[in-house]
Amino acid sequence: MFARSAARALSAPTAARLFSASATARTKVAVLGAGGGIGQPLSLLLKNDPLVTSLSLYDIRGAPGVAADVSHVDTGSEVNGYAADQLDQALEGVKVVVIPAGVPRKPGMTRDDLFNTNASIVRDLATAVGRVAPDAHILVISNPVNSTVPIVASTLQKAGVYDPRRVFGVTTLDVVRAARFLAGLVDASPAETGVTVVGGHSGATIVPLLSQSSFGKTITGEKLDKLVHRIQFGGDEVVKAKDGAGSATLSMAYAGAKFTNALLRGLNGEKGVVTPTFVQSPLFADQGVDFFSSNVELGPNGVEKIHPIGQVTEYEEKLLAACLPELKKNIEKGRAFVA
Ligand code: NAI
Repeated sequence: MFARSAARALSAPTAARLFSASATARTKVAVLGAGGGIGQPLSLLLKNDPLVTSLSLYDIRGAPGVAADVSHVDTGSEVNGYAADQLDQALEGVKVVVIPAGVPRKPGMTRDDLFNTNASIVRDLATAVGRVAPDAHILVISNPVNSTVPIVASTLQKAGVYDPRRVFGVTTLDVVRAARFLAGLVDASPAETGVTVVGGHSGATIVPLLSQSSFGKTITGEKLDKLVHRIQFGGDEVVKAKDGAGSATLSMAYAGAKFTNALLRGLNGEKGVVTPTFVQSPLFADQGVDFFSSNVELGPNGVEKIHPIGQVTEYEEKLLAACLPELKKNIEKGRAFVA
């Protein structure tokens, strides 16, 4: 049942289905890091989302140019670009803040290798959001997501404005990849091969629950090992192919826009918007893992309901056993950085 809901929230890759505007309320959205490889196409896709009324594009370089360019697209929203010293202006009145700011991986790097650079970028941006737009929903794309989300949470906590229903790690690209890779193996449309991906967003912490998909459960043996590995390390394929020029940007922009649209639909009161996302979660808190991605129902306040992971196979239990200790370390590292 969860898998079906997830498939509804995150299925067909056409613009029409990607951006369904069933509600009338509209929203101001900011992109922090809008001049980057993800930020530019993400800004374009958000300009095309009818649920976005106003788009606020900020970066330490290049955002006004991106804004001028994107603003000519003939959709209803207004677009404003902000330079390095205009972060506070960029955040005024925003309801949703998407953060793809920071450095991407080069071949041979893990996401954790980005920690030293990205931790302070994300902390400083979260501090500004807490000051200027304390009620905003924050969508973290910057890696390592397993640590940057706890960094945002702890930063807001310090400022006394943390609401766990409003902080999300964007793990949608793992969900998008899982559906696409599975579709290729079973000769079906990705609209039919939605997979619930739980855990975190790096290597072994990414746990696809293929047994919960009618197509996924037909994959066994070595084929299953290979598919799980490809979902966990799909990002490496892109890093390698780009050969030093960065990591996934276009598919990530797609995934980021898809998750933003799901959140906006939930905020606007649409029922049944369910998708995996990395949030503060009780599911494995007794094991010291207090952030976890599982299917989450999105609603007017952000996180409405965190679904349990549901029935898993012995094989998936092993994947979870490998995920949890690593995830715990990543979360603690993020928290320690702010403390
Ligand atoms: P990029 O280097 O092309 O762009 C990053 C942008 O951030 C640049 O324009 C830079 O000027 C800007 N920036 C740096 N410091 C800033 C600050 N303090 N305030 C505002 N903007 C700032 O990198 P790319 O490829 O766009 O990746 C961005 C991040 O997204 C990386 O950390 C990458 O690892 C992560 N990522 C996350 C994925 C996910 O699934 N969550 C998937 C792919 C990438």
